[in-house]
Amino acid sequence: MPYSYLSHLRCSKTGEIVDADQPQQLSPVGAPLLASYDLEALKQAWHPAALLGRPASLWRYHELLPVRDPAQVITLGEGFTPLLPLPAFGKQIGIPDLWMKDESIIPTGSFKARGAAVGVSRARELGITHFAMPTNGNAGAAWALYGARAGLRSTIVMPQAAPAITRLETSLAGARLYLVDGLISDAGRQVAEAVAEQGLFDASTLKEPYRIEGKKTMGLEIAEQLGWTLPDVILYPTGGGVGLIGIYKALQELQELGWVKGPLPRLVAVQASGCAPIVQAWQQGERESRFWPDSQTLAFGINVPKALGDFLVLDALYRTEGCAIAVDDSAIQREIRQLAAREGSFVCPEGAAAFAAARQLREAGWIQGGERVVVLNTGAGIKYPDAITVVPQRLRRDGRIPA
Ligand SMILES: Cc1ncc(COP(=O)(O)O)c(C=O)c1O
Repeated sequence: MPYSYLSHLRCSKTGEIVDADQPQQLSPVGAPLLASYDLEALKQAWHPAALLGRPASLWRYHELLPVRDPAQVITLGEGFTPLLPLPAFGKQIGIPDLWMKDESIIPTGSFKARGAAVGVSRARELGITHFAMPTNGNAGAAWALYGARAGLRSTIVMPQAAPAITRLETSLAGARLYLVDGLISDAGRQVAEAVAEQGLFDASTLKEPYRIEGKKTMGLEIAEQLGWTLPDVILYPTGGGVGLIGIYKALQELQELGWVKGPLPRLVAVQASGCAPIVQAWQQGERESRFWPDSQTLAFGINVPKALGDFLVLDALYRTEGCAIAVDDSAIQREIRQLAAREGSFVCPEGAAAFAAARQLREAGWIQGGERVVVLNTGAGIKYPDAITVVPQRLRRDGRIPA
């Protein structure tokens, strides 16, 4: 059996087929390329029982991943994160069957490790030696760290305001790190120029086809961890939207393989009120979003004013009868406190946004009380020490702890 059943790449706009075994960026019409697999052959050759005994990492699904040679796999042990029931918080918000896919304990502290592991491994397999990318912090950190392990050079550009810890991770990994006084869209312009002038490989969101393949493993894992059944609703904090598009792609592939049955979960794109281009487009029934000026939110990873893959996110929402919803920063801070106090989980602001959305959608009746709901906590709260403040208790005047 081949290690990977990757067959070709196809343009997400025109369906044009492109060679998967050459380094590729966007399709000839400038749209993201998506990986296709020989699912017919895989259907005969591969069954859920084959996963038993495989390592608890995302590479357990290597047939559905693009790396052809196992010797090219760059891993820090990423994937197969816990899917945790949240009985106390779920009861509080009226969703007793609430689960958290917890990406806080993955290497590099965010789910971006998945895209980096697969993207960097495949880049090295295809002979790429130096990549560049704009980032809101976590992706750059993950790609720089995996790049270091792979022996690849990296050039990373992030906003000055990105979480300081991601700056440390990136720089310590040996990347060329540049800061811009602006947003990820400004960083993107810098990277595009450097790519054109210096011939670097552009690893920007959806400008190379394999980061999404790493992220789709969240969808594969959710299905496997629920015994090859699907939840009713999945909520995802959406910036560039790659995770949501990836989960949607994974579930479709599992359906085609016959590993899951029934309707797909209703997918929910969660954004911040200060940066909600996808929500605005969804409310207006549009197929693409418009640039969101002066965007701002403490959930830094979802501060993306215009996503290249917006049309793919919106398509996934429409096709699964999902929705898009914006929550404000005060609701995000409230859920960070609630999740820690009730469930012992220090979630990142982006994850907290998705929990706030679950609460609001339940209140609005869009989520029913008996439904099974999965929320993605995309990273560790400890990466964002400035997102929230606490006031410690006071010692007594004599320096002792009050009774
Ligand atoms: C913690 C966290 N959550 C969510 C996102 C949004 O990811 P996506 O590009 O898949 O929408 C990011 C992106 O930086 C992030 O760092």
